[in-house]
Formats: sequence, structure tokens, C-alpha cells
Amino acid sequence: MEVYLDNAATSWPKPEKVYRAVYDFMRKVGVSSGRGAYRRALEADRIIFDVRKYLAKLFNVADAGRIIFTANVTESINLAVKGLIGPGDHVVTTSMEHNAVWRCLKVMESRERIRITAVSCSPEGRLDPGRVVESLRPDTKMIVMTHASNVTGALMPVEIIGAEARRRKICFLVDAAQTAGVYPIDVQSMNVDLLAFTGHKGLLGPQGTGGLYIREGFSPRPLKEGGTGGHSILERMPDDLPDRYEPGTPNVAGLAGLGEAVRFILNEGIDRIRRHEMELKRYTVERLERIPGMTLYGPLEPDRTVGVLSFNLGRYRPEDLAHRLDMEYGIMVRAGLHCAPCAHRTIGTIDRGTVRVGLGYFNTAGEIDYLAKALEELAGK
Ligand SMILES: Cc1ncc(COP(=O)(O)O)c(C=O)c1O
Repeated sequence: MEVYLDNAATSWPKPEKVYRAVYDFMRKVGVSSGRGAYRRALEADRIIFDVRKYLAKLFNVADAGRIIFTANVTESINLAVKGLIGPGDHVVTTSMEHNAVWRCLKVMESRERIRITAVSCSPEGRLDPGRVVESLRPDTKMIVMTHASNVTGALMPVEIIGAEARRRKICFLVDAAQTAGVYPIDVQSMNVDLLAFTGHKGLLGPQGTGGLYIREGFSPRPLKEGGTGGHSILERMPDDLPDRYEPGTPNVAGLAGLGEAVRFILNEGIDRIRRHEMELKRYTVERLERIPGMTLYGPLEPDRTVGVLSFNLGRYRPEDLAHRLDMEYGIMVRAGLHCAPCAHRTIGTIDRGTVRVGLGYFNTAGEIDYLAKALEELAGK
């Protein structure tokens, strides 16, 4: 038996239509988009147009053209931060960030002398929005933060912080890596100026897809320059979106898959997906907390978290436990620091890290029973 519980890293399996869309594009269309006027090229254009439209619906974006495609959320965050922050700017973030945010800020600190305030979260990884507000200064240019921690699953109070950022005209960038596709996101009511997302996690699309929503009024410097199919006579990047940020041949095969994935999510309904995740999270906590020697980290209430759960068992090193789960039971989980050392410093696990279960829409209570039984056996050894 094989049980995949690493959906926080990348989701698997994907809806059947996602595989089919990637295959069909490569087999039957296969041409570049934005670069030809023959019928198959127009079909490639339509695929990309549609996926932007589905994502706009999912995130309540009024103008789909303001969604830029990238290779992943890491690239989106780099584009937003490096494109909008300049020398000496002050940036506020949290102590629960993934390296996609943290390393990006640190390089800007050494290169551009930006100043960073990382607001400390509680040892459970909860963020007090009041502390974020207190840390804002007249020269604060941006607040950048994760929507949900990839270590504890804790949801962050982005609605409250977004309202304050809008009131003070501070740019608000949200890393939605762990929430896009599994939690309702409305960029308008949440006052999100830039939403960075990745296609291969909760959005159920292929790896190598992702994007950035850029609200009107924001114009980051492009991260890359090159051909855009149109405006070829210009010696600089065109001003129009999305072309300004999408040089080079796009990943149409991946985007074809992402389009079907987002259509699947819209058809299932985000509320239903969220309910399934909350039920499974509640069940996982219930089953795991009874195991002797078990330590669970972070807030555990399903309505305050996404389907991510970190734990340690007795004296096991997380890597050893994950290895035994794989080799002896066929259970796939992640172990270590999960690219988020700041988060582990916050929750007190920097010395050894944690084992992380990442629940997905296709996981079942039966699989959690199997995990719990395996951990019970390993706890006794
Ligand atoms: C919160 C968070 N941010 C950023 C990332 C980076 O995602 P990607 O590798 O798709 O760029 C991840 C996933 O690992 C994540 O969980």
C-alpha cells in the first residue's frame, strides 16, 4: 500500500482531466502561444486565456489580464519584492515565512539596504495582527506574509492586516502557496495588492506553473526581459499586462493542465474542498494526539488552519521516522525544516525540525487510520 501525505510540498494525484489536458495539448496542439495567427496557435492562446479567466473567478480578480504567469510562487514573490522595493525601504513580514519570502528579503537587505521587521509569532505560530500594525512606519513600503504556514498550517489574519495596509497605502503581498485552491481567497475583500500563488499544490495543477495577481496601480519592474510575441519593435518590455511580465515561450502544456485543475476546483466548489480538509484535519489530530510520545505543533483547530500538521514522535529524528514510514509502510511524508527555518525557530523545533503531514483533497480517513496505526507501531519500537 502507498499513501501520499506530502500535499503541502506538491499535490498528488491530480484530477484525471489534468493529465489528459497536458497530454492532449502536447499531442494535438503543441505549438507556441502568442506567436502565431494560424488556427492551432489560436488554440494555444485560448488555453492560456481560459486559465487566466478561471483563476480570476477563483480569486475574484476583476481583470484577468492582471494575473501574470510564472514558474511557481517563488518566482512570483521575487518579481513582486525585487520589482517594487528599492534602496532603504522598510518591509514588514512575519517570523513564519518560507525561504521564498525570507531569502528574497535577505538578499534585498544586503544588496539594497532595505530594512526588515519580522514580527514574531507565538510559540504556536499564531500571529497577532496588532503587532504587525504596531511595526508599521512612515517609510514602510510593503507588508509581505504567508497566508498559511507550511510548517504548522496556521492561517494568518490577512483580512485584518490587508485592511490596515490599504488604509495606510502600504503594498500588501500575500504568499498563497498553502491556501490557493483549498481556502477561499477574494483579493478585493481581503485588500490584497499582490497575490503570489503556485499551480502545483492546492490548485492541483502541474509543477512549473504559478502566477502573480497585480492590482491596478502597481507596476513592478520586470524580473526578466525578452520576446513577448508582439510589440517586437520595442527595445524595452511593453507596458501592457500580461506581456510586460511574460517574456519567453510560456509553459502552455502546464497551463493547459492548470486550466483543467482550476475548473475542477470551481466545479467541486471551494467550500466543499475546505470542508473536506477541515474534517480530515480534525480526524488526523484526533488520531495522532492519542499516540504515546506524540508532540503536535501549532494551532490544531481545523477552522484556524489548513491541512498541514507538524509533529515529532518520542526520540525519533524526523528524517528517521519519515524514512521508516516510507520503507516499512509506504507512507510519504516530509521531514526536516521544510524550507522555513524562521518558523522552526518560532515554534522551538530548529534543532531537529518536524515530520509534516500535508493533507490533500484526495486523502481519506482510511489513509489516516493507516498512518495512525503505523505511528502507534513505531512508537512502541
Ligand atoms: C508558504 C510557501 N511559500 C512558498 C513556497 C514555494 O513554493 P514553490 O516551490 O512552488 O515556489 C512553498 C512551498 O514549498 C510554501 O509552502
